[in-house]
Amino acid sequence: MIEIKNIKKSFGDKTILEDISGVLETGKCNLIIGSSGSGKTVLTKCIVGLFKPDQGEICYDGKSMLDMNREERTELRQQIGMLFQGSALFDSMTVEQNILFTLDMFSDMSIRDKKKRVDEVLEKVELQGSNKKFPSEVSGGMKKRVGIARAIVLNPKYLFCDEPNSGLDPQTSLVIDKLIKQITTDYNITTIVVTHDMNSVMEIGDKIMYLYNGRKEWEGSKEDIIFSKNERLNEFIFASEFLQGAKAIRMLEVEGKIQEGTALQEAEKLLKEE
Ligand SMILES: Nc1ncnc2c1ncn2[C@@H]1O[C@H](COP(=O)(O)OP(=O)(O)OP(=O)(O)O)[C@@H](O)[C@H]1O
Ligand SMILES: [Mg+2]
Repeated sequence: MIEIKNIKKSFGDKTILEDISGVLETGKCNLIIGSSGSGKTVLTKCIVGLFKPDQGEICYDGKSMLDMNREERTELRQQIGMLFQGSALFDSMTVEQNILFTLDMFSDMSIRDKKKRVDEVLEKVELQGSNKKFPSEVSGGMKKRVGIARAIVLNPKYLFCDEPNSGLDPQTSLVIDKLIKQITTDYNITTIVVTHDMNSVMEIGDKIMYLYNGRKEWEGSKEDIIFSKNERLNEFIFASEFLQGAKAIRMLEVEGKIQEGTALQEAEKLLKEE
């Protein structure tokens, strides 16, 4: 569990984050959403310790980063896996070498054990046998999976994914989302996903924090989104009229006013009555 307590961050005289608090839960996919420039990346960097907040603190499983000594910080850094935007693989290295790189940096395993571990994580992301391929030889979705394999190779307790679906088609995005979700539950880790992708929100959003202009505007689950009356959130999530209609239908279903999956028939009935 990660606790964010009253985080404030400015650059010069520009306030970027204004008093943000929240809890990122273990075993769940915690989403940080919001429009471009709302502060998602700055907040994430504060959480992982790449930026120092002006005020407030971040606690990892009850321990404030402010109270950690050098060794504890190094230890924490090794417990954090990161899937970077655009996967950030080394093009001149094979899939295996990309993953080995992290192990070489942070573990003292034997080369045999390292290779075994690479095979394990590749299997986890369903890329077994792709060890010798170069990033240029695999698809965008596969690159993301290699990125995920690399992010989990050290058995992290915390997994950060920045825009894991950028540049992917909706179906491949879904595969990646499901993989992130599965890893989160299988390993019972605290996962943080920064996303613009509304499909992801509705697919894996156990807990969602919506940022608006550097403030936490709303927090809840994907189910809560359906019923939320927060106008800014609704405008952001259900940006198109089509999605607004879909939300209205889902509300009717959940409230039991129409039977699930019968919206089309109900609409036809109404049209006939007219
Ligand atoms: N290192 C920096 N120095 C100064 N200003 C910064 C810095 N990093 C970010 N900002 C500013 O902070 C604000 C929030 O940026 P941030 O990158 O967190 O947005 P975001 O929500 O991640 O947007 P996007 O969805 O486009 O990635 C922006 O106005 C940005 O210009
Ligand atoms: Mg960003």
